[in-house]
Amino acid sequence: MGTQRDLMELAKRRGFFFGSNGAYGGTAGFYTFGPEGAALKHNVESAWRDQFTVRLGNDEIEAPTIMPEAVFEASGHLDGFDDMLVECAECGTSHRADHLIEDAVDEIEDAEALGSKKVGDLIAEHDLACPTCGASLAGEPVEDFNLMFETSIGPGTGQPGYMRPETAQGIFVEFPRLKEYARGQLPFGVTQIGTAYRNEISPRRGIIRVREFTQAELEQFIDPKEDEPPLGEVEDVAVTLYPATEQHDADGDYLTTTIGEAVEKEVIGSPWVAYFMGVAQGWYERVGVDMDRFRFRQHLAGERAHYAADCWDAESEIDGNWIEIAGFAYRSDYDLLKHGAYAEDRFTVFKRYDEPVTVEKAVVDPDMSALGPEFGGTASDIAAALEALADADPDAFDGDEVTVDVDGERYSVDTDVANFAVETQTEAGEHITPHVVEPSFGVGRTVYTLLEHGYREDEVDGETRTYLSLAPEIAPTTVAVFPLVSNDDALVDVATDISRTLRQAGVSVSYDDSGSIGRRYRRQDEVGTPFCVTVDQDGLEGDGQNTVTLRERDSAAQIRLPLDRVADEIAALVADEQTFDELHGRYSAVDTDVTAA
Ligand code: ATP
Ligand code: GLY
Repeated sequence: MGTQRDLMELAKRRGFFFGSNGAYGGTAGFYTFGPEGAALKHNVESAWRDQFTVRLGNDEIEAPTIMPEAVFEASGHLDGFDDMLVECAECGTSHRADHLIEDAVDEIEDAEALGSKKVGDLIAEHDLACPTCGASLAGEPVEDFNLMFETSIGPGTGQPGYMRPETAQGIFVEFPRLKEYARGQLPFGVTQIGTAYRNEISPRRGIIRVREFTQAELEQFIDPKEDEPPLGEVEDVAVTLYPATEQHDADGDYLTTTIGEAVEKEVIGSPWVAYFMGVAQGWYERVGVDMDRFRFRQHLAGERAHYAADCWDAESEIDGNWIEIAGFAYRSDYDLLKHGAYAEDRFTVFKRYDEPVTVEKAVVDPDMSALGPEFGGTASDIAAALEALADADPDAFDGDEVTVDVDGERYSVDTDVANFAVETQTEAGEHITPHVVEPSFGVGRTVYTLLEHGYREDEVDGETRTYLSLAPEIAPTTVAVFPLVSNDDALVDVATDISRTLRQAGVSVSYDDSGSIGRRYRRQDEVGTPFCVTVDQDGLEGDGQNTVTLRERDSAAQIRLPLDRVADEIAALVADEQTFDELHGRYSAVDTDVTAA
């Protein structure tokens, strides 16, 4: 494990990621993924798509990143998507007030749950100083700061819009169409991988807290009364949980259990949330997160987002701190009810009963020839209010008069004019608002975790080497191909040929013929390339004719194998169908000392 500084240095030097707009002085909170980083991020996204879209049988969409204000009025982000801001009166720097407290007071892990008043009091009590200039922050107001980036849609004054702070809203607002593609059948899931924007108060720690980042989200729509997840698929998955009760307890500890047991004992309240946690545990393991540095932590009550009834975070340990890399929220019917109330479309699903049922239904048929002259332009609103009241509270029609509310005004209507009746109706089904369960992954934070957990230093051939132990599926480059020397046409021809063949088979290849072979191995180790193929004279002449060496990154071990076996053996290694150790049994080992070359 290296320090964060080692990793940031490597990330910049080898083109994983670096601060954006450096030529213009840089812009805090924005990072560019360089060639290695973009390839790594793309592979993480592909692995996520493979698991959460393809293997779970969901559909993926791609929605715009700018949405009109009305969407965020409905979603609650305009009112409630705030962080706690404290500004230094001396130097004017803005700080996340809750983070200052968490950094200063060991016992407080989640100050957001305490509320801004309490956080302000704690800043004063601990007499916290501005991390930038050292002036006291005691007594400075702690304010709610909305994290959304505002923009204007269209020329002139335009229409107010916002960069989406979560990809999820692009799925919710399209629910009326998405349910049609799902033929109105619950449960169904929709995924999206895309950019989200948050005007973070103090972006920090490289790509961990940035203002533009990629999320991979799944919105699972369910009928909460009937739909159950296929829990059997993950019930034996072992997990490390940190429930809210344990976080409150001074001696609180982790709970090592299985997904099945956590549901049975109601440690995880929602079986759907538990199911996705189980799937995620397997996925994180597959892409190479160190599971000894991974846990699921339940949100404390005051910490939950405005839409969440329960939430668990997947957290990875980075340099001694835990960071959230994904959230698993039970969003209930919050989002669809809100959009249903604000928007014109229907955000419900029609559930057909097994058998039609006969029901007694209160109805009204207001006499407009009486309502019109009496109430003028308000008459149709009063008629609509009577219809709603009949449905919600039929007893209100028991007297001679019935009273309804329209835009805050009370109107009394003769019950006879309302024409109230109870009718017997046959119903084939009902409109229900689905509940939503949401696994939401941060791609950048996953990438960072994989780099941190994969960062290694050891000694090979008497020299210290740095390497990234990345899973072959995730590594930016799968195979590096080298001719031992660049001035031997025969070696170059064979190496070029191997590169071409592997590329045509869809394998990502880096061809390198510059510098000593030892230096070339180090270059590939540093960017996590799991396999190197070297074409040398021994392979083209004498006993070993038409062979090459294949080197595995972590062990730095090499074997010699026939040229025509290279593509198949590498494909099997990448697909995890065999290990490099198994190849050792089938092919001869090669002396790995490359210092002489
Ligand atoms: P935090 O508490 O760290 O601010 P959050 O609770 O606001 O995170 P969510 O709203 O649950 O995060 O977002 C879902 C996922 O998106 C997170 O698990 C994280 O991986 C990612 N994410 C959120 N904010 C950022 C950010 N500013 N930079 C990078 N990734 C982020
Ligand atoms: N979709 C979860 C979040 O970004 O808040």
